[in-house]
Amino acid sequence: MKNIYLVGFMGTGKTSVGKELAKKLEWPFADLDDLIELKERRLIRDIFAKNGEAYFRKVEGTVLKQVAKEKKFVVSCGGGIVIDPANITLMKKSGTIICLTASPEIIFKRTSRYAHRPLLNVPNPKKHIEVLLKMRAPYYAKAHKVIDTSKFSVKQAAGKILKTINNKK
Ligand code: S3P
Repeated sequence: MKNIYLVGFMGTGKTSVGKELAKKLEWPFADLDDLIELKERRLIRDIFAKNGEAYFRKVEGTVLKQVAKEKKFVVSCGGGIVIDPANITLMKKSGTIICLTASPEIIFKRTSRYAHRPLLNVPNPKKHIEVLLKMRAPYYAKAHKVIDTSKFSVKQAAGKILKTINNKK
């Protein structure tokens, strides 16, 4: 069995659902954003502020390559991982891609509680979420399966993913 990659916009529940899924499967859990911060020994917002988004994307791709060598890992990815087609190819080769979605309203509610996401530290984050969601929709659609978490608890969303994975076997 290969890895399970959780992709999707910020605030769709990738980390909490990923941890629950890993617990259910008894697989290790990896959060790409955490691995990036460990590698760089600084916070993502500091990477963006000092070196910009393009540099962040390069590190993100490098860290993904390392994780893709593993098997049976549940991997929660940053919301922008799908923008680079090479990342999609690699994730498809080394696992199953599950995309979590939620409505812009729910994403705004969930993300406005925290200030660590540089892309949402803008004057009108709600509008920016809508714009980014539209721009990224074709990339997220490349996942093997799309699951809307708007109406699900973390446990329910993890259960849905498990069902999908079991049906694919
Ligand atoms: C980003 C999402 C963030 C993080 C970085 C960029 C994005 O991860 O990788 O701030 O481009 O959508 P989360 O989706 O885990 O918040």
